[in-house]
Amino acid sequence: MAPSVHSSSSTLLTSDTDERYANVNWEELEFSLTPTDYMFVAKYKQGETFSEGNIVPYGDISISPCSAIFNYGQGLFEGLKAYRTEDKRIRLFRPDENALRMQNGAERLCMTAPSAEQFIKAVKQTVLANKKWVPPPGKGSLYIRPLLIGSGAMLGLASAPEYTFLIYATPVGEYHKVSSGLMNLKVNHHNYHRSHYGGTGGVKSCTNYSPVVKTFLEAKSLGFSDVLFLDAATGRNIEELTTSNIFIVKGDIVTTPPILGTILPGITRKSVSELARDIGYKVEERDISVDEMLEAEEVFCTGTATVVKAVETVTYKDKKVKYKTGEEALSTKLYTMLTDIQMGIVEDKKGWMVEIDGCDD
Ligand code: COI
Repeated sequence: MAPSVHSSSSTLLTSDTDERYANVNWEELEFSLTPTDYMFVAKYKQGETFSEGNIVPYGDISISPCSAIFNYGQGLFEGLKAYRTEDKRIRLFRPDENALRMQNGAERLCMTAPSAEQFIKAVKQTVLANKKWVPPPGKGSLYIRPLLIGSGAMLGLASAPEYTFLIYATPVGEYHKVSSGLMNLKVNHHNYHRSHYGGTGGVKSCTNYSPVVKTFLEAKSLGFSDVLFLDAATGRNIEELTTSNIFIVKGDIVTTPPILGTILPGITRKSVSELARDIGYKVEERDISVDEMLEAEEVFCTGTATVVKAVETVTYKDKKVKYKTGEEALSTKLYTMLTDIQMGIVEDKKGWMVEIDGCDD
């Protein structure tokens, strides 16, 4: 059954917009949902090509209780950001990479994804419809959340008879907002794993995320900012945080775990690796044992929501190691290099930024 967009009490009416907008504190944006005005919805039957889709008022959708997403978790999501520049442009960061990652995930979960062209067009339409919600330059970004879900009803396990591609957006500030701005990680060494070879850890399946919440909350209750998961096969190598990739630095070598199906191929990970190479670092993608990380000079993590965050401490069993942070740290340099490109402070020589036309009024 097709999801329909309701004009229920939770649907936002245009008349609410001004009041909701007036209530946003742009100086104190957090990584949380501020409903915007519109979302994009497209749906299609299995075996058909994608319908063009429409911009509709942001609001609840109705989905069959028997849908593949509700019953079997057949769903993928993406996260990307739009930035407002001082000269009044609005630009997306590498949307083609998100489109590609959604296609790879769809292949793994037997879904049909939009083409890169359809994906980028829909993202642009969503941003344009919500352009007033893109934060002022330097105050944050518009976080865009594309979803591809099995929305059609079926009881036996199969690929869904119908899919929905939906995009909503919300203005956001910093993820992992901690007073020091630094991360304190706990290595998860004794209970749950995030992923395993042959699983779905390498695609952005919705089902990768709720299983890590238990470990995350346990670590939070002990005062840590996040959990660092180890590989399920050996329990010796570092893999990924709940929502970010990880890097270590020693001398002029920057190392990050390899993309072998157990960690998410992060777009910020890829971009930051390129930036580190540009300034003379050697970037290696290979297994990193916990012991090697404990000997590193610097540790940092990356992600669309996370951006680039320095890790101040890592705790493994009863050992706590402190790393270099601050102005001299490579993570600070990479953060500035990346966000200067994203915010239009320096010229984008990489061709990473995609302009949204019609935003300059
Ligand atoms: C992102 O960084 O965009 C993510 O998808 C992580 C999210 C769960 C906050």
